[in-house]
Formats: sequence, C-alpha cells, structure tokens
Amino acid sequence: MPPNQAETVDISSMVDQFHDLPGGLLPLLHAVQEALGYIPDSVVPTIADALNLSRAEVHGVISFYPDFHSHPLGNHVVQICRAEACQAMGSRQLEIHAKKTLGVEFGETTPDGNITLEPVYCLGNCACSPSIRIDDQIHAHVDTAQFDQLIEGIDNSAQAVTTADNTSHKFYLSMDTTAVAKGADDVARQLPENQLVRTGSRGLFYLEPLLEVDTDQGRIGFGPVTASDVESIVSSIDAPDDHPLYLGIVDEIDYLKKQQRVTFARAGVGDPLNIETYQRLGGFEGLRKAIAMSEQDVVDQIKESGLRGRGGAAFAAGIKMQTVLDTPADQKYIACNADEGDSGTFADRLLMEADPYQLIEGMTIAGRAVGATRGYIYFRSEYPVALKILNVAIERATDEGFLGDSILGSSTNFHIEIRLGAGAYICGEETAMLDSIEGKRGMVRAKPPLPAIEGLFGKPTVVNNVLTLAAMTSILEKGASVYEQLGSDRSRGTLAIQLSGNVKRGGLIEVPFGISLREVVENYGQGTASGRPVRAIQVGGPLGAYLPQAVLDTPLDYESFAAINAMIGHGGVVLFDDTVDMAAQARFAMEFCAVESCGKCTPCRIGSTRGVEVIDRIVEDNNRDENLILLHDLCDTMEDASLCAMGGLTPSPVRSALEHFFDDFSVESAGGK
Ligand SMILES: Cc1cc2nc3c(=O)[nH]c(=O)nc-3n(C[C@H](O)[C@H](O)[C@H](O)COP(=O)(O)O)c2cc1C
Ligand code: SF4
Ligand code: FES
Repeated sequence: MPPNQAETVDISSMVDQFHDLPGGLLPLLHAVQEALGYIPDSVVPTIADALNLSRAEVHGVISFYPDFHSHPLGNHVVQICRAEACQAMGSRQLEIHAKKTLGVEFGETTPDGNITLEPVYCLGNCACSPSIRIDDQIHAHVDTAQFDQLIEGIDNSAQAVTTADNTSHKFYLSMDTTAVAKGADDVARQLPENQLVRTGSRGLFYLEPLLEVDTDQGRIGFGPVTASDVESIVSSIDAPDDHPLYLGIVDEIDYLKKQQRVTFARAGVGDPLNIETYQRLGGFEGLRKAIAMSEQDVVDQIKESGLRGRGGAAFAAGIKMQTVLDTPADQKYIACNADEGDSGTFADRLLMEADPYQLIEGMTIAGRAVGATRGYIYFRSEYPVALKILNVAIERATDEGFLGDSILGSSTNFHIEIRLGAGAYICGEETAMLDSIEGKRGMVRAKPPLPAIEGLFGKPTVVNNVLTLAAMTSILEKGASVYEQLGSDRSRGTLAIQLSGNVKRGGLIEVPFGISLREVVENYGQGTASGRPVRAIQVGGPLGAYLPQAVLDTPLDYESFAAINAMIGHGGVVLFDDTVDMAAQARFAMEFCAVESCGKCTPCRIGSTRGVEVIDRIVEDNNRDENLILLHDLCDTMEDASLCAMGGLTPSPVRSALEHFFDDFSVESAGGK
C-alpha cells in the first residue's frame, strides 16, 4: 500500500479487536503492520489512547522489536541468516554478495522499491544452511548463484504441475520448514493429491525431501528427491533397489534406527493435524491419566521422572511446578517458551510442525498439575509454517474437547493462546518473554521474585520450553520411572540433539543423555559437508563454548559438559571445518550480544560493544598483550555483573575460542585461512 494511503487508513476496527486483550499491544501492532505493511507514526496516538498507554510507550515497543517497521518496506523482504550455523556454510560471503547485487545495505530498500534486505539471526533451518527467507518462504543451501536465481524469479510464482497419476500407492512427504525449503512442495505437485499425506519431518534433514511410500514390506523411502525424480520413483516402487535415491525401509535407516525416540516418536509418521492419528499413536493418554490423578500426584510424577528444563538452564521441572502449585492465586498461567532463538536449534520447530498436539497436551497436563487455566505459547515470528499448523491444532483440539472448558468431560479447564514475538532474541529469556507477552519491550526482570511466584501479569507462572512440556505427555502416559531409567547421572531422559552447520548429515537425533560428542559428529554427522577436517564445534547456541576435536569423547550430559566449561543448552551442535576463523567467531559472539542485549545492565550493553573493539585491536596487533588482559577482565565483569545469562554467558564462546584456538587471534590469520 502506498505510504500516503496508509497514513489515512482507519485502524479503529483493529483497535476495537485488541483493546481489551491483556497485553494486547504486540498483537495489535502485528495486525496493523499486516494490514498496512508498516506502522505509520500517525497511528501511534490512536493506539496509545485505546490501550491507555503513553505515546512514548508505544514508540518504545515499536523501536525495540526488529520486526516492527515505522517506514514502508519494499514489495518483497529478503532476510539473510547471519547466525553461526549459516556462517559455517558461507553466509558471510552470501551477505556480501547480496548487498553488492542488490546495491543496498541491511535495512535498505532497492531504488525501485521492490526488495528490502534484512539480517535475521536463525530461521530454524540450520541443518541445511545457508538459509534465507524471501517473504514467507525459507530457502536452504543458498549459494551466491542460487541467490541470483531467486532474486531474478522473485516476482514470478509460476508453478509447474505434472501429476504422476499412474500409481495406486500412498505417499508421505513432509511439509515442514526444511523439507519445503528444499523443494518438497515442488515434489508434492507431481503426485496425486488424494494419495499423498503431508507429514512433519522425521528430522533426517540431509535426506529431505524424503518421499515415503507404503508397500507390502512397510514404508520405503527415497531421498533427497526433486520434482524431476518423481516419475522414475513411481515406476520403480515394485522393484526399488536399483533406484539411485532408494533408502530402504524408512525405520531401518541407520540414522533413525539408532535413535531412541520418545518425544519425537510420532514425528514424520502421519498428518500432524490428524487428531485420530495422534490418539492412535498414544496421544492424549497422558492427559487422560493426569485428569484422573490429584494435582500433587501429577507434580510428583514429573519430579520422579528427573525431567529438567530443555530451554537451556536445565532447572528441575517438577520443583518449578511444585512452587506454582503451592502458591495460592486466583489465576495461574503456563507460559510455553517457543522462542527458539539459538542458532543451530530447530527441535521446537520440528515438534510443533510434526506433532503439535503433543505440545498442547503437555501444556494442558502442566495446567492441570498446578491449577492453571490459561496458557500462552510465545512463538517466534521466524517460524511461519509452525505457526499455521499450531493455530489449526489448537482450534481442532478445542473442537474435539481436549482443550477449553470441561476437558474430556472433567472439571479441568485450560485455554491456550499464541503470542507472536517480533524478532528479539532476548525475548527467549523467560522474564523478558513475560514482559513481551504483557505487550511491553522485552526487558529482563530482576529475580526474585521468581516467575513461579510472580510471573505473567504478576501471577504464579510455570515457564517451560516446548520440549520440556512435550516430555510431560510420555512421562504421564508411560510412568515416571520409564523416563527416569533413560540417561546418565542427573541428566535423565532423552536429549534432542540438533546437528547442523558444516555437516554432511544434519538433522535431529533423539537419544538418552550420555552419547559422546564423537558419536554425534562422526557417526551421525559423518564429518563436514565440505569434506575438510572438523576444527571447531559450538554446542549450546550462541552463548555456548567452541570446542576442539580434543574433547570429542565427552558424553553429552549436563554434568560432563559443565566439567569442560561448556553447556548443552537447548542441544544445538554446530560444526565448523578448518577454514573457520575463530577470532571472527569470538568477535561475532560479542557483536551478537551487542545487537540483542535488552540494554538493562551496563556490563552487557556496553561491555559487548567494547568486546568487539578489544578483539579487533588484538587481531590488528594493536597493544596486543594489554588488550588480551583487558578482554579477560571484560569477560570477568560480564560474567560476574550481568543481570541475565545473555551478558553472563557471552564470554563463554569468546574464552573458549581464546583457549582452544589462540593462533587465530593474530594479524597473520585475520580474515580466515
Ligand atoms: C538470552 C537467553 C535466551 C533464551 N532463549 C530461550 C529460548 O529461546 N527458548 C527457551 O525455552 N529458553 C530460552 N532461554 C531460557 C529461559 O530463560 C528459561 O530458562 C526457560 O524458558 C525455562 O524453561 P525450561 O525450564 O523448560 O528450560 C533463554 C535464556 C537466555 C538467558
Ligand atoms: S545481561 Fe544483557 S540482556 Fe541480560 S539484562 Fe543485562 S543488558 Fe539485558
Ligand atoms: S537458519 Fe541460519 S543459523 Fe539457523
């Protein structure tokens, strides 16, 4: 819409829709931007008046979130992922190429008004990087040549359709973000619609699009498939062995067979939105049991399972629940953290796209356990596919009596609402997330009070990650002891490892805690995609340490990782080959913190910017020894005096790079090898 037209649009109907909604500012801003393409300054007074806020508060929120724009964008928005897993596959060069080709910097629009170029920090497509997003479509493995092709075809959405209708078989093909980014929709268009089930992904991303076919022997697979392969696959189904893309029986594929899937057992099996399929595969059994139990018994099951939070901090889930259960209040909440901002992580996305009812069930169990009747899912805007799926799943679960009032005929009531974030990484931190759900800037709160006592809208709130809540379903269904028997030491149950970056076989690996990093990198991953030696592995997202080959035998569990000054975080494992410049990676850690800091405390807000400058001086050999001491002092200050783990853990990738890859911090090695 041209800007002058937008200035005059009447937004009163949107305002009416949101002004009574608790924390309605973000949803309203999203709605305005959706309708107008941006949020003109002229609408701010109307919004402020309607929500009883000052104009400064509304401007403050608009300017805090990268997704909100107060000026019109181009006809198309192209986002280039700048985060680590994409860096490992050449996104820095792609970024330079994109800027040069389009003749714009980040945040600018081409002179013809057609394309706005933006940075993004992870699209959840890390196993098939570098990733870019053009409007709502994510693309995988984008090199400079493919970038040029995509830009050339940006206004052309012609879709070839050649249906292979000479078959009676039933096909299964994922509709998840990564499969679609790798061309699954083109493959789907070749197949008869009524014989094709669109599933979630099994997480074997190196094989996507993975086309599965029902046969007398079971489900067989072909992959990675392109549209032009479909005809030959269809004609080879009865004797598939000779087809070059034939993978055998899907359940027997080594990468999948070796895993022990609990949370991801249903992923990729059927239509994620089919509620009968979900129930046939054990779904809602945990909820039925929880409803028949006392609140305390449900909490005890979670405690006995040993489940710890999967969002990063690994806090005991049962203890958090107990606190909320024991805190009297007229209203309690479950807040699901689906922000998944860490580079190299995509398990939350995979689960929500492949098995959304599991999250709904887990949240409802948590609600039942602590006496909460409302739940919020804080959802990142970078996941448009998952958002659509989850919205439909919530609607269907409500229609079928698994959500809403009198669930399954009982006295349990539970309602779920999705709240969309707007591109700020810090909103994954639980208290910043609560502020964001309340419609504010995502500023970290000081603790105490704990969210379990004074959380969302000041009420007791269980904040858990998607995977933590999802795990509650099988704990209730199969019993706490079954879950507790898996794992090692105080790391109980299974870990969803997300393998990405410069790796031959990237994907999701769910196994009990305790598997060695070597097994993940060498046996599952089979080394780098480039074929060069693995040099560094970043585990645990952008705040995680860079590890050398020497620690490959470390078991992946919380205790063993703490012992090597590392953390598992949300389970992301990102590989880099020997061309990586580790001083540049350390610099990026500080830069990322500077970009994403909420700004509340000085060590993080100022320290991260100073950190970039100090690393630059070290690499330029400018007062090198003094600056090395300064960098360590700065890291000490950030660790000791930051209010939250954003500033407190940013030194981890920096220090580990210094410790294990010190040679890179020199003039000779600057700019990579
Ligand atoms: C900077 C920062 C970002 C975070 N991002 C996420 C996130 O995206 N998802 C998440 O579940 N937890 C994230 N966390 C951890 C949350 O603060 C919190 O510990 C978690 O949501 C609690 O759920 P859990 O106990 O199930 O892990 C982040 C923490 C920090 C400091
Ligand atoms: S450490 Fe950084 S992100 Fe955390 S509160 Fe301080 S300024 Fe905000
Ligand atoms: S998609 Fe780029 S790091 Fe995740």
